[in-house]
Amino acid sequence: MLAGNWRAGALADGTPYGFTCPSPPRYRHQWYWDSCFHAIVWRHFQPARAREELRTLIRGGRLDGFIPHTIFWHDSAGWRRAPFYATHSVRGNRATAHMQTPLLALAWELVAEASPEAPGFRTEALDALRLHYDWLERHRDPDGDGLISIIHPDESGLDDSPKYDGVFGWMSHYQPGYVWLVERSRRLRYDSRAIIARYEEHVEDVMVNVFYALSLHALARLTGESGYERRAASTERALLEHCWDEKRGLFWDLAGREHAPQRISTWSALAPLALPSLPEPIAGRLIEEHLLDRRRYAAPYAIPSVSMEEPSFRAGWHLFRCWRGPAWINTVWLLAPALRRFGYEAAADRVVASCVELVEHHGFREYYNPLTGDGLAARRFGWSTLLIDLLPPVDPGAAQDTSSPFEGSIRDELWSMGAEAATETRRLASATVADVMARLRGR
Ligand code: GLC
Repeated sequence: MLAGNWRAGALADGTPYGFTCPSPPRYRHQWYWDSCFHAIVWRHFQPARAREELRTLIRGGRLDGFIPHTIFWHDSAGWRRAPFYATHSVRGNRATAHMQTPLLALAWELVAEASPEAPGFRTEALDALRLHYDWLERHRDPDGDGLISIIHPDESGLDDSPKYDGVFGWMSHYQPGYVWLVERSRRLRYDSRAIIARYEEHVEDVMVNVFYALSLHALARLTGESGYERRAASTERALLEHCWDEKRGLFWDLAGREHAPQRISTWSALAPLALPSLPEPIAGRLIEEHLLDRRRYAAPYAIPSVSMEEPSFRAGWHLFRCWRGPAWINTVWLLAPALRRFGYEAAADRVVASCVELVEHHGFREYYNPLTGDGLAARRFGWSTLLIDLLPPVDPGAAQDTSSPFEGSIRDELWSMGAEAATETRRLASATVADVMARLRGR
């Protein structure tokens, strides 16, 4: 499937590219964190493609160390779509001007370890990686507290998560006002320091900073430089000191200059489980009180993106909304190994087995309904293959490389969206009827 989603070629100036598009035809470009996840999976089968995917990501970056959220290698974002893409100009650009959860160094190290046939890979891009993580510190941590900020909700990759509703309000990713958020950033030329100084809508996001800390640790190992280790430790400390809520037993995002905690329970509040220095009592609370609680995150399938107890929780399909309840495989990829590390082997096995069931029944879908196990949204979705990284070692010879590019069809996409919308509407309608009947009977 990944081979079918692979796109390779060269720009007019000869710059080569090779990456896996997340899901044709819906997602045809290169996305930063998707590419990192794809490379992590490719390294099991064809490490050469894993290396090429990460190199392509760096090639899409700027000389100052910024690497975009989305890169339009073979297919530029024309003026029609540009208002919805965070590009510099409405006429369309080669890439967006905003970032995505920066896990490149983490992926780089994993791929390097799986590349004995290319020993130079480990060190060939250290300058670019240093520049990238130094850019993040300089531009995204202006208050120097060790936590980097996002200035658009989709910079985390968790686009419409309800944890951003209170911050971005009418400019949320799924609201018409998002177009204004993009325009406003354009007017300040995406100068993040200026945007953070001028506006209140920016977030020190827990999940983003967990991946940032893990990547700084990886960069410290890749470079052998202790400065990155110190930075990783300061980010971990800041998460514990500023984001941890002892009473609720969760980690909250901090919004605006005042660092206002956003008290909405989403899987991001559990992400610090992946931190190497997390104290055991805190891990115990995240796991026992939340991850394994049937009212909160212990759903029949995978791990819901929002606690089932939150009023904003929606398990199924919604137009333009995908992080308000549905379960994603990258969530399980981050949290299941943490469960094992803290001794919850059986629980980790259960979650992973439920994901195997999802994929066996519905294929690699973009996300799944954690209550019913329905496969939802895009098909042949790249990072859902991360499940393979959670299973016992695979035999690379067993994987067949069909290599014929898969294009998908817009008609099939629309058809499946319509079918999902109809199922969801039916479900909502019958829930409403049941509710009205119950109220009438109560009277
Ligand atoms: C959706 C996801 C985002 C991902 C993108 C491409 O917008 O929310 O995290 O990067 O699709 O797959």
